[in-house]
Amino acid sequence: MAIERTFQPLPPWQRTDYCGALRASDAGRQVALWGWVSGRRDHGGLVFLDLRDREGIVQVVFNPERSAAAHEHARTVRAEYFVAVKGEVVRRAPNTVNAALPSGGIEVMADALEVLNASAPPPFPIADEEIAGSQSGAMSLSGSQSGAMVSEELRLRYRYLDLRRPRMQRNLRLRHAIVRATRAHFDEHGFVEVETPILWRPTPEGARDYLVPSRVNPGRFYALPQSPQLLKQVLMVGGLDRYYQIAKCFRDEDLRANRQPEFSQIDVEMTCPRPEDIMTIVEGMFARIYRDALGVTLSVPFTRLTYEEAMERFGSDKPDARFGMELKNLTDAFAKTELNVIRRSLAEGGAVYALKLSGEFQPTRRELDELVAQTHSRFGLGLSWAKVAGSEWQGPIAKHIGHTERSGAALALELKAGDTLFLIAGARDKVRPALGDVRLQLGTRFARPARHLLRFLWVVNFPLFEYSEQEKRLTSVNHPFTAPCPEELEALERDPLSAHSLSYDVVLNGEELGGGSIRIHNSEVQLKIFELLGLSREQAVDKFGFLLEALSYGAPPHGGIALGVDRIAMLVCGTDSLRDVMAFPKTQRAVDLMSGAPTEVDSAQLKELSVKVVL
Ligand code: AMO
Repeated sequence: MAIERTFQPLPPWQRTDYCGALRASDAGRQVALWGWVSGRRDHGGLVFLDLRDREGIVQVVFNPERSAAAHEHARTVRAEYFVAVKGEVVRRAPNTVNAALPSGGIEVMADALEVLNASAPPPFPIADEEIAGSQSGAMSLSGSQSGAMVSEELRLRYRYLDLRRPRMQRNLRLRHAIVRATRAHFDEHGFVEVETPILWRPTPEGARDYLVPSRVNPGRFYALPQSPQLLKQVLMVGGLDRYYQIAKCFRDEDLRANRQPEFSQIDVEMTCPRPEDIMTIVEGMFARIYRDALGVTLSVPFTRLTYEEAMERFGSDKPDARFGMELKNLTDAFAKTELNVIRRSLAEGGAVYALKLSGEFQPTRRELDELVAQTHSRFGLGLSWAKVAGSEWQGPIAKHIGHTERSGAALALELKAGDTLFLIAGARDKVRPALGDVRLQLGTRFARPARHLLRFLWVVNFPLFEYSEQEKRLTSVNHPFTAPCPEELEALERDPLSAHSLSYDVVLNGEELGGGSIRIHNSEVQLKIFELLGLSREQAVDKFGFLLEALSYGAPPHGGIALGVDRIAMLVCGTDSLRDVMAFPKTQRAVDLMSGAPTEVDSAQLKELSVKVVL
């Protein structure tokens, strides 16, 4: 095919302004613009084009009396053509001012028009939402931006068109502001940005690894880092003292709205910090981010809760503290209950926890039944409920509940007529998360916490280990490099499940934004932890020999944290999905709909890599 004679690799003139940046103060200026045609209207001999670039829209008017050629040309352009325009900025007549557009006080009288590229008809109307979007003006923290008009599949397939929407433009610019504020903050506090390799070896962060075969080492694989955890520890041994990085991480795990297979962390490590030092640095980072990106002042320090307190009060290690409805332990009040299920649980050493939904909210019977069914299917536990009517209770369990239990509950929960009480009995470790889930569902449905409330908090001192029924062994709650609380070191071997770690998670409105810990900097203690996790000395040396060796060369005490850039951006942008704040996200099945990745590779390439596909 012959290259089109009309193909011009360079624009016909240089731009003087962004379309969306023109204002009334520009009236009288000659301007040169380029952008996409967002809409075209032919009116009484005039042609109007809405011209869009990343800053927004401006109206361009083609008058045959001003330029017959440009006017004729303007009649032929279609949506999403990329065009260049020259003209003069003029004030609009008062009755034609468009208050919905920031540039709505002016328009550009065109003298020349060049089409730099035509566009196939777009598969979804960008302009429609765009006008709605530009009307909403500046970023608001409240209100969802679902963008549900167009299916997400279509948006991801034609991501380049989706990215033209103001909403995506704004989200990516906010993300940029977040990263810029982060870099400035850490730079000002003496942190050095160091890049770490992508082709590396497995890091135990709890997900499956993405593996890359090595052509020059047949049968050997690199693993993409789930995080730079071990490398940042080695950097502390290497004397960097304060490190940070915006690091790409890769985890092959079940995906949800707040999880992507490939994501970015603000990764931080310090020499000789106390947990308090890390928390203060991170609070400063969030304050800077919210100030620079949104002009919002955060109140610091954030609330600190121990893991135990968070579970006891909210039934969650990432509580949404925008609403109350805290859990209460009613085990004592129910000690002599006649209710069989509860009596049985208590006899087995179980506990009873309850929470109250205030009388201003009245769930329907159907909602109650659904909640009961869900709690059963998710946690295998029975959820009971009762409505308070004066000193009486109504509902399925009401008549089995005696006076002592009722007054105990009334006291603990400050029950009033009209309130609904929810109650679960069973093993304490199971009951609290189950009731925490009920709290979250009721809170989301009834208390409807507003997005602009920013309830940051720290959850500290997680348990060091948990027991995995599946693997029949202890596993790390964080990762195996987390230091135990020093006062519990002695009991570590005797009762490992009772030990806690020097760890801290930062949570915003029920979303875990980051987590970290003080590390083990002593190779013998590290080996002991590996042993408790069921790794023999040989296995530990095989997997983590380089770390153990590094620790034995005067490794300083160290600790750090990693924060999810994507999750922070999601909350700053006020959306519910990471896909709204990543330029090229993957679907739930880890597919890139635009490029089709992952793709098959040809057999010659596989052979070269000594890899065989077995399906
Ligand atoms: P952790 O595994 O808790 O800690 O990860 C830290 C933060 O990274 C974000 N994150 C994710 N974001 C999007 N998609 C995912 N699949 C995903 N997984 C995690 C979360 C999370 O809080 N090396 C340790 C940190 C340390 O100890 O310093 C680590 O990676 O916001």
